[in-house]
Amino acid sequence: MPTPLTALDLPSLDYTDAALHGPRFHATMAELRAHGWLANTPLGVVVLEREAASFFLRTRSAEFPGMKIAELFAVEEGPLLEEMRRNILHLNGAQHARLRGLVNPAFTPRAVERWRPAMRAFLASVWDEVVGSDRSSACEFVGAFAKPYPSLTIATVMGAPLDDAPRLHEWSNWIQRQFDPPVLMAERARIERAVAEFYDYAGALLEARRADPGDDLISQLIAAEQDGDRLSDVELVNLVLNVLIGGVDTTQSQLAHTLRLLAERPSQWAALRADPAGLAGAAVEEALRYEPITPFTARILVEEVEYRDVTFPRDTVVLVSSFAANRDDVPDGDRFDITRDGDAAPRPLTFGAGVHYCLGANLARAELQEALTFLAERIETLALDGEPRFEGVQGVYGLAALPLRFTVADAG
Ligand code: HEM
Repeated sequence: MPTPLTALDLPSLDYTDAALHGPRFHATMAELRAHGWLANTPLGVVVLEREAASFFLRTRSAEFPGMKIAELFAVEEGPLLEEMRRNILHLNGAQHARLRGLVNPAFTPRAVERWRPAMRAFLASVWDEVVGSDRSSACEFVGAFAKPYPSLTIATVMGAPLDDAPRLHEWSNWIQRQFDPPVLMAERARIERAVAEFYDYAGALLEARRADPGDDLISQLIAAEQDGDRLSDVELVNLVLNVLIGGVDTTQSQLAHTLRLLAERPSQWAALRADPAGLAGAAVEEALRYEPITPFTARILVEEVEYRDVTFPRDTVVLVSSFAANRDDVPDGDRFDITRDGDAAPRPLTFGAGVHYCLGANLARAELQEALTFLAERIETLALDGEPRFEGVQGVYGLAALPLRFTVADAG
């Protein structure tokens, strides 16, 4: 007889605790993993092991609880409800497969290669502003680098004017906050306004690209066709919105954590610096594995599930922990090591798994690789210049501030 979930004696994880981050977060997760593969959370349970994580991400008996959030927080009309209904992460089955079929070609490894020169140009312009002619320099890395870089990239991908990157960043930030319940309750009007403003903006951009197509995502989506099927304007604008809210905070946060990890470990920076082109890819993979900025992804069960002799009732909220899963089957997995044999480690679950696997994974990887190569070619020594300010691990796990000091290499 399977055991009902409620009969299990499980430890607890309050992942909503804003003080849970940095070393304390790592220690808490290590303790939980030592206890077993499952723990309680304020809303349901969390899965702490690779195979189980993969199961709950892939099963058709679970969905992303986006519409549950709408229901719980009485989002019953208006632009935000429209956005939630159309969000690709909230769609399932044939509807979801159709959209992915039309949008995937824009984000293949080959397709994202064409954005690398623009990424390098943005890095160079940000670098010039931050560093100037000083050989010894300091900056608050999040504000100076991590924040402007992904929004400039996404503006380019969208075909938006670069001057609009700060606006896009702000919209992305507000719309993304629908996944943060206290902010959703307190700031509903501001989030609604951001969605409405973005819809107007993207609608105008769509008209402009229809009249004058370019080499950008919107032009590509206008032309996208699969078996005679095309995207409607509403679908197209919502896909662009998903790319914007999926692609800004995430890359910003992963880049900031990666620089923090390297600044805390001078020997790893020296290794990267000795071979930037050769090691940047491995450093990105190790940072994605060791400090995923999506440490938890949520699912809600749409029917009862029996797994490992446990019965999970319908409507159970299951958090899937990529942080925990990424440590399974990795020798000395709690150590950050950019020189480890990446081929021996399983792929990280940082970008999810199954049909909702991150649409922008190739773009994010390219952005992170370009940034690390660029910085390692120019920075000789790198160190923290004060304590990083961590955000919470709920949602996108970012840094509010990362003070760094560094010396510029001769050839820089
Ligand atoms: C380091 C950077 C990033 C990380 C760690 C990340 C992580 C994730 C994860 C974990 C999911 C799956 C969520 C789930 O199944 O519940 C996801 C989905 C998604 N991501 Fe990313 N992401 C990143 C960057 C990007 C970028 C640059 C884009 C821009 C194209 C993007 C767009 C999306 C979209 C549209 C989805 C929904 C896919 C679907 O539902 O089919 N992400 N991402």
